[in-house]
Parts: sequence; structure tokens; C-alpha cells
Amino acid sequence: MKWLAAPALILATGVATVPSEGSQSEPIAGVANPARARQNWILSCQGCHRADATGSSTTTPTMAGYVARFLQVPGGREYLVRVPGVATAALSDADLAEVINWSLVRFDPTNIPPDFTPYSAAEVGRLRLKPLRAEAATVRANMVARMSEKQH
Ligand code: HEC
Repeated sequence: MKWLAAPALILATGVATVPSEGSQSEPIAGVANPARARQNWILSCQGCHRADATGSSTTTPTMAGYVARFLQVPGGREYLVRVPGVATAALSDADLAEVINWSLVRFDPTNIPPDFTPYSAAEVGRLRLKPLRAEAATVRANMVARMSEKQH
């Protein structure tokens, strides 16, 4: 029966050796494994958001240089998990918290508030139980309006 373990081993080794940007950068709070976070981004998020999080002008808003601004307005922290693409992703709470924490630092480090606490698996698990549906666009528009107010 020993041969049964071999494919699993090859698979595990393959995943572990995926080249990562994490190898050349600082550790990220709330990201236990940057290579895994990047892999989950590729598999679950970049199909809509694109590899560099620039999104698409017609369907998916850009996260690059922008997404962490939601953390600066009331309700934004919750919104980033309750938004449908995040809340309903086929990832565990821990992997989802990790990929969110990773994407904030990877795509919009300058807008992260200094007192930001990384998302935990427990917080993500609680928030994703209330996914936004049709109201997502309205909720988003209200947040964006708050952001513009902050600039004045
Ligand atoms: C099917 C396409 C799709 C997938 C897959 C997807 N998203 Fe999104 N995402 C969107 C769209 C569209 C929005 C804009 C809000 C809305 O209408 O849902 C959005 C909004 C967001 C936001 C809020 C930013 C903003 O400007 O509103 C974050 C954060 C986010 N996505 C992260 C992720 C992450 C992380 C994943 C992978 C776990 C992911 N998304 C998967 C389409 C997608």
C-alpha cells in the first residue's frame, strides 16, 4: 500500500516549490504562507481581478492602489469580506483571511491604516455568513462616497 502515498507526496512537493514573491519580501502580518496566499489569489480571484489587481473597467473595480481605502471608512472592514467574490470563495476561513491580508499588502500597502489589525479566520468566518448580494453595488457606492468626503 506504500505506493498510494507517492502521488500525494509529489503534489505536496510541487505546491511547496511554487515560486513566490514572498521569498524576497518581509513577512506579512496575518499571512502564514505567502506562496499559498498567492496561489489562492491565482486560483480564486485573479480570473476577475487580474494578476495585478487592476480589474476591468467594465466589470471588476481595480484593487491596486485603492482597496485598502475601504479600511478607512466605517463598514469598510466588513465590506471587504462580505463582498460576494470574497464571502462565497471556495476557500476555508483561514485561507480566505490569509489571501485578503496578503492582497491588501501586495496591492495597496500605502492606504492600509497604521492601526490595521489583520483579519483572523474567526472574523472572516463570522462576516462571510452575511454575504452581500444585489445590494453590494449600493453598499460599495456609499463607501466610495465616504472616501471622497474624507479627502476634502
Ligand atoms: C466572479 C468574479 C470575481 C471573483 C472570482 C472575485 N471577485 Fe472580488 N470583486 C468582483 C466584483 C465585480 C467586485 C465589485 C463589487 C461587486 O459588485 O461585487 C469585487 C470586489 C472585491 C473587493 C472589494 C473592492 C471594491 O472595490 O469593491 C475585494 C476586496 C475583492 N473583490 C477581493 C476578492 C478576492 C480576495 C477574491 C478571491 C478570493 C475575489 N475578489 C474574487 C468580482 C470578483
